[in-house]
Amino acid sequence: MRLAVIGGSGLGRLEALDITGRFRPETPYGKPSAPLVVGRLAGRELVFLARHGEGHTLPPHRINYRANIAALRQAGVSHVIAVAAVGGITPAMAPGTLVVPDQLIDYTYGREHTFFEGGESGVTHVDFTYPYSEDLRRCLLTAGAAAGVDIVEGGCYGCTQGPRLETAAEIARMERDGCDLVGMTGMPEAALAREAGLAYACLAVVVNWAAGKAEGIVSMAEIEANLARGMAKVKRVLLGLGSISANAATSRSGSSLSGESSP
Ligand code: HPA
Repeated sequence: MRLAVIGGSGLGRLEALDITGRFRPETPYGKPSAPLVVGRLAGRELVFLARHGEGHTLPPHRINYRANIAALRQAGVSHVIAVAAVGGITPAMAPGTLVVPDQLIDYTYGREHTFFEGGESGVTHVDFTYPYSEDLRRCLLTAGAAAGVDIVEGGCYGCTQGPRLETAAEIARMERDGCDLVGMTGMPEAALAREAGLAYACLAVVVNWAAGKAEGIVSMAEIEANLARGMAKVKRVLLGLGSISANAATSRSGSSLSGESSP
């Protein structure tokens, strides 16, 4: 197992990472958002990638998700923990809550969302019934328990296009669809990881009530405050991973109808 953490808004770097190397590989899809930072965290080797770039310059729709996943795969990564700031839709998803979702709905458009473009390589459809690796989800929940951090088990992540936030009507529709959380970066990242054969799980941090779920408009000051608070908890969970057995397998992930799942 080689573990990577993709850090989102509020998690541009891991201060506790004892860095041993940095490189920004070229992939068939271009360069990843930032250099891959290799190091050790609580005794475990880990690769860190800042999803939005080192200076947080890439908005969700401009991220080269294919290059990010391809670069991690080239680096020998087998498991990916995706940290993401989200809005809370359903009552259990109050700001400050950490969640390990178990389902997602994709509302994005116009993003490069697949490695399988047909042509000579043929037509490939990966299974995506369970978008997240169950074993890696369990690892995160166990790490949370070890670190004394409460994590909500399960929830449906709805991924919107952004960068604007949603209307209250859009959030009401998403709630009717079954979404508990709303974010902007979960797709196509999760699907590309599946296509690449990487086990992938999301650790979501609720930083605001989604549009229409609280009085007034969404406050950026509130988001900033919850982001800092939430990411401090995320770091404790990631440190907790160090004490867990490293053999999170890839069950419920990585199967493809053609048998060829490499980018
Ligand atoms: N909507 C979409 N993405 C988000 C939100 C939100 O309310 N909060 C943090 N990321």
